[in-house]
Amino acid sequence: PRVTIVGAGRVGSTLAQRIAEKNLADVVLLDIIAGMPQGLALDLMEARGIEIHNRQIIGTNNYADTSGSQIVVITAGLPRKPGMSRDDLLKTNAKIVVEAAKNAIAHSPNAIFIVVTNPLDVMTYLAWQATGLPRDRIMGMAGVLDSARFETFIALELGVLPADVKAMVLGSHGDLMVPLSRYATVNGIPITELLDAATIERLVERTRNGGAEIVELMQTGGAFFAPASATSVMVESILLNQSRLLPVAAYLQGEYGLEDVVIGVPCRLGCGGIESVLELNLTDGEREGLHTSAQSVRKSIERSQE
Ligand code: NAI
Repeated sequence: PRVTIVGAGRVGSTLAQRIAEKNLADVVLLDIIAGMPQGLALDLMEARGIEIHNRQIIGTNNYADTSGSQIVVITAGLPRKPGMSRDDLLKTNAKIVVEAAKNAIAHSPNAIFIVVTNPLDVMTYLAWQATGLPRDRIMGMAGVLDSARFETFIALELGVLPADVKAMVLGSHGDLMVPLSRYATVNGIPITELLDAATIERLVERTRNGGAEIVELMQTGGAFFAPASATSVMVESILLNQSRLLPVAAYLQGEYGLEDVVIGVPCRLGCGGIESVLELNLTDGEREGLHTSAQSVRKSIERSQE
């Protein structure tokens, strides 16, 4: 199989490395900067003998080289600077993502699309619109990352292995995300048994602010290692038809009482893309949180089209 990554920046190039080194697929890295994706591809190819895999990595500035991809990941666009919200990127990234989606679908009409560019839910909606794809074949990555951050903070607080912590974060990728604390566990034991409410709330707040915390520390762009890992898990579940149940930004058609909007919900990911959306019985507060998220995504979609 072949995966195209549009945007060979920090998230895109790290994702290329993950996909190739996990031996999942050949990778085409595309960017507008001449020479840059070609150089990265050559560098990654030179690591193959050491990492022991035989995946091809091609760098290009031309969409013709992406043809026949099973998956297209869009990471093209600007990242945040300190003090910026994801929404500050709206108009610039909207143009880039719409153009990338149209070009990519023209050469890979059967591909499944994963959008990573921020503001995530809005960009996924715009890419859905631009490609005209059925909703099972286009989605955004945010929930897997936000959940991994929440799990990390829980593991740090309790001094347990991160892999033993399971949590899910729904809603939009931003301040209005909806972490489902009551479902978070350490190997099946609810964290509500292990931590008091104030501590859990502090970890939730840190999760909401997880992206900004890194932007503030780095000063030169945002997180990319964990985002690339999170995206690679989605790619893997699709390519290997694993049907993993993951939080994914999906176009909703009535689920959770929401329509014509993209928001993070639990989805099964397999070879056809989104195989199903799981509707959980949410508490009133969680449901309200999801609707508030959706409302803000809708407003941003409107603003992006003004
Ligand atoms: P970066 O600046 O390192 O890379 C972006 C790349 O896109 C650059 O190489 C740039 O040349 C390229 N690009 C710009 N316009 C293009 C076009 N028209 N066609 C093709 N390539 C184009 O940024 P980074 O850190 O890789 O982040 C990429 C995006 O992903 C940002 O919008 C960031 O906010 C978002 N992001 C989203 C996350 C999520 O959870 N959904 C997590 C981390 C980042």
